[in-house]
Amino acid sequence: MTVRIAPSLLAADFARLADAVQLAEEGGADLVHVDVMDGHFVPNLTMGPPVVAALRKATRLPLDVHLMIENPEASLQQYLDAGADWVSVHVEATRHLQRCLDLIRRGGGRAGAAINPGTPTLALQAVSLDLDYAVIMSVNPGWGGQPFLAPSIAKVRLLRGELQAVGSRASIEVDGGVETGNAGALAAAGAEILVAGTAIYGQQDVRGAIEKLRQANRTVRA
Ligand code: DX5
Ligand code: ZN
Repeated sequence: MTVRIAPSLLAADFARLADAVQLAEEGGADLVHVDVMDGHFVPNLTMGPPVVAALRKATRLPLDVHLMIENPEASLQQYLDAGADWVSVHVEATRHLQRCLDLIRRGGGRAGAAINPGTPTLALQAVSLDLDYAVIMSVNPGWGGQPFLAPSIAKVRLLRGELQAVGSRASIEVDGGVETGNAGALAAAGAEILVAGTAIYGQQDVRGAIEKLRQANRTVRA
């Protein structure tokens, strides 16, 4: 099965986000990855529900909203109301993970849980049947353009086995430092959604970069 490509807008020109999502759409991206940061869970501060609502009007692609915010349960409904299709919360940011996932599903969204590089996959065990997708952070969250953490590949493989063992159908998304040099290995390890910011919006030819990423996973698979 070919992986889905989700360009991360964090690497796009924030003064021209509508153009960026158009390029993603024309380039054949499957999702648009929207990084929400609150300046507390991560030191960076990016965007909130009003921007998600504006992006909703600018593209037909599903919006994959990555909440890098403390206590996501307090505001995740605003993102769903703004038009988010997929919403991921960080296991490290809430005491009520299962309730967050349940709220997202009740709100019509696909429910995701993200784990930082220092968080073991076992942190997802108790919610593996409440998940539509798991996000393995292959960088420490907060910024784009960071180097890929190579142990993330083995982490994908481990999580794939753990999810299969309990009959979870959750997809695995990888986020951070993804590029043509690691896309194939990530796909072979069981990743189904690849988020990429710099490898796509950091390139002159955005459409070509999306295609290259898609090709990269086919080569290893073949
Ligand atoms: C980091 C974000 C990632 C990041 C990916 O906190 O969650 O989505 O924007 O960007 P690159 O691909 O440049 O690492
Ligand atoms: Zn992200």
